[in-house]
Amino acid sequence: MAPLRVLILTLVCCVLQGDFVLSRSSKCTKHTLSLLHVIFRHGNKTLEATYPTNPYKHIRYDPFGEGQLTNGGKLLGYRTGQYLRKKYNDFLGSYTPEVLGAYSSQTWRCKAYLQLIMASLFPPGETEKWDKDFFWQAHPVNGDCALSQKLFWSYVTCPNFAKSYRIYKESPAYAKIMSPYNDTITYLRDESGLWQNNTFVFGTPIYLHAAFTSQVEWGLELPAWAKSVWPETLSEIAALEWAQLFATEEGRTLGAGNIDEIKLNSEPKQFYISGHIISKIFKDTKLHINKDPSVNGKKIYLYVGHDTNMYGTLAWLGVLKPEMINFGAYVIFEIHSIHDEYYVKVLYQNKNVDSKLVTLQLPECGGCCPLNKFATLYASRLNPETVCG
Ligand SMILES: *[C@@H]1O[C@H](CO)[C@@H](O)[C@H](O)[C@H]1NC(C)=O
Ligand SMILES: *[C@@H]1O[C@H](CO)[C@@H](O)[C@H](O)[C@H]1NC(C)=O
Ligand SMILES: *[C@@H]1O[C@H](CO)[C@@H](O)[C@H](O)[C@H]1NC(C)=O
Repeated sequence: MAPLRVLILTLVCCVLQGDFVLSRSSKCTKHTLSLLHVIFRHGNKTLEATYPTNPYKHIRYDPFGEGQLTNGGKLLGYRTGQYLRKKYNDFLGSYTPEVLGAYSSQTWRCKAYLQLIMASLFPPGETEKWDKDFFWQAHPVNGDCALSQKLFWSYVTCPNFAKSYRIYKESPAYAKIMSPYNDTITYLRDESGLWQNNTFVFGTPIYLHAAFTSQVEWGLELPAWAKSVWPETLSEIAALEWAQLFATEEGRTLGAGNIDEIKLNSEPKQFYISGHIISKIFKDTKLHINKDPSVNGKKIYLYVGHDTNMYGTLAWLGVLKPEMINFGAYVIFEIHSIHDEYYVKVLYQNKNVDSKLVTLQLPECGGCCPLNKFATLYASRLNPETVCG
């Protein structure tokens, strides 16, 4: 083919494709925005779970404490709130208590991270300023503990998830994905001592990745044996393990990934659930569309949870990739109203605060998905209770 023809064809294709993509997501603009829901992972934390050969067992992480936000983690929350304020300033307007729905997991780091986001997302205006030197105002948060447990990490057992996951773990599909890493996983278990209690056979890389991330941030040098796997190899295997937790339809529907499940010889009890958050988002959106008085004036819902909630959310949507999810990552559900029709646009941040948000292309629905179509496509996942068993 003559070079010119190739060039013209390429251009035509690009324009057509570009136009298609553009028209699908550019319908949802900042002028059509109607409601926001955001699910976050908390910011950077100090070490929470150790391993038998950890050379730094004596370290107490004072004055923060174990498993709490570091200063870097706190700053991330504050900067994230600032970023969202800038992005949505016109839509959000000034603060009144009805505008905001604020939810967090019951762990301290999540409660604290929510406070940091709200501090910069809704700072006091001139009228609300109550101290001339202190630029902060208090925001009410949801205090329903049972609801929080249900949303972020239910203590219910979901036998169907456990059952389907066990079957999957015995399948050739699972072996094909994980067996190339057998030797490395054995090495990690031997060196870390995590085999000692016959536990974490599957979860060793996930578990160690979390431990090393916090230790490195605290300025500790990792043990010599870790150098050959940190950070690339360990991240690669841990990300694959995460994806396996959501490889079953039951896992995706519940948005459930369970670290306990990956212990040997122990019955799973505790599930981290994201399916409930998304079905709440969907219900709240319906109330908003129907102008229900209970959600009058609401503009934004914030949910601060865990890595498991983030993987679960992406898996539920069918867009999870084997990639580690960082501290402070978040997913925004933008609800748009265009000529009396409602749409959902989902954005994802897994980099630093100033990186461009990624618009997620929902399978079969794209970047600006009609809500009715969303409801049909995801119908089987909108009632996680029925899948639990
Ligand atoms: C890895 O281990 C699994 C389970 O022990 C086994 O089924 C599989 O054959 C092993 N694969 C390799 C490549 O060694
Ligand atoms: C293994 O069991 C011992 C004794 O019950 C306990 O002290 C230790 O923390 C356990 N190790 C792990 C890695 O769970
Ligand atoms: C916070 O954790 C991320 C990994 O999730 C890391 O890339 C980043 O450097 C950490 N931030 C600080 C301040 O150490």
